Amino acid sequence: MSDEEKVRKGLVGVIADESRVSSVMQASNTLTYRGYSVGDLCDNTSFEEVAYLLLHGELPTRLELEKFSSAERENRNIDPGLWKAMQSFPMDSHPMDALRSFISLYAMYDTDAHLSQLDKASYIKKTIKLLATVPMFIAWDRRRRVGLPFVQPKQSFGISENFYNMCFAEVPKQETMKAFDVSLILYAEHSFNASTFTARVVTSTLSDYYSAITAAVGALKGPLHGGANEAVMQMFDEIGSPEKSEAWTMDALLQKKKIMGFGHRVYKNGDSRVATMQKYFFKLAELKGDTRYRSFYENVAKVMLREKNIHPNLDYPSAPVYRLIGFETFFFTPIFVMSRIAGWSAHILEQAEDNRLIRPICKYSGAKERSVPRMDAR
Ligand code: ACO
Repeated sequence: MSDEEKVRKGLVGVIADESRVSSVMQASNTLTYRGYSVGDLCDNTSFEEVAYLLLHGELPTRLELEKFSSAERENRNIDPGLWKAMQSFPMDSHPMDALRSFISLYAMYDTDAHLSQLDKASYIKKTIKLLATVPMFIAWDRRRRVGLPFVQPKQSFGISENFYNMCFAEVPKQETMKAFDVSLILYAEHSFNASTFTARVVTSTLSDYYSAITAAVGALKGPLHGGANEAVMQMFDEIGSPEKSEAWTMDALLQKKKIMGFGHRVYKNGDSRVATMQKYFFKLAELKGDTRYRSFYENVAKVMLREKNIHPNLDYPSAPVYRLIGFETFFFTPIFVMSRIAGWSAHILEQAEDNRLIRPICKYSGAKERSVPRMDAR
């Protein structure tokens, strides 16, 4: 079999295109957005600045950031028709299903939805609309499920603060907000991962922006991808107490179970984002006076390294951060969405600007060619 005919299951190692958005450097375990290391961005910028960077290619000046932020704040509104439709979303649906449906419906209420696919400004306009309304939807959905009324967005707050306030009706401590903002920066972009690739495939057919984002949300939901942050917390809850971590993990490995929040397709010596998220996780745990999740975290990781030499990925520290902030487990992956919209959108734009239909081939392994038998001979 020639190299060209070799099946690459899961597209392992396939270079599908070039990208200028971010770089995952396996050898050095580094991740850069538009050339800037994510650790540096986390320590020195906000999620809004990073979203701007991903979309425009450069960090904003003060004036550019002000314009970008004002545009986002001005778009924090949802059409009354859509509000009405949202009331019928079942309470027992998964929040990711609800969010995927919200984005799909939002498209029909956006009069700009079908502006030219090649118009960069229209893509950015739509991205800003989702950056503004997706957090509103998640916060609304969370509060109705816990029996609380909607909290209106506040124009004076940035994305993270406003989201927190819409969820909990209070302004958090600065350290809590920083840990949350850092999680959004780290989740914002990660090259050709499954959901981003999905968004690019949809864009490559010349379909519209919202279709690409809706499809990406579906891909992110799976526990092998973004859904892993929920699965990590479900695992800690199932273990029950930190001292049971060793026995629980050994047993799960014996049963050949995948331990959620560990392993990565690209990183084999550890996910570059973990150290940064872990730093903010430990600070937050100290601030909250809660060492329980840190103990689960360290105990399971110790077993995974010793037994399998497998390192955690970003979902592992982000899950306890979200729990410590106060989010219910089933809202962890929707929060991932509100951040990854920035990265997906940068890739949609890049794909549209230099498009070629994405259409791989497969090696046929079905029945040999045969004739259709008559009905009475089947
Ligand atoms: N727990 C136990 N064993 C694991 C794990 C894990 N989390 N991850 C990999 N392995 C083992 C596999 O069993 C396999 O072992 P084998 O060769 O003895 O069969 C080997 O490591 C290679 O694993 P694959 O699943 O083939 O690696 P792949 O690159 O296809 O998958 C993936 C990567 C999907 C992330 C995998 O590591 C996994 O399922 N992890 C758990 C889910 C998770 O945390 N996903 C989040 C990814 S990061 C993100 O989306 C933000």
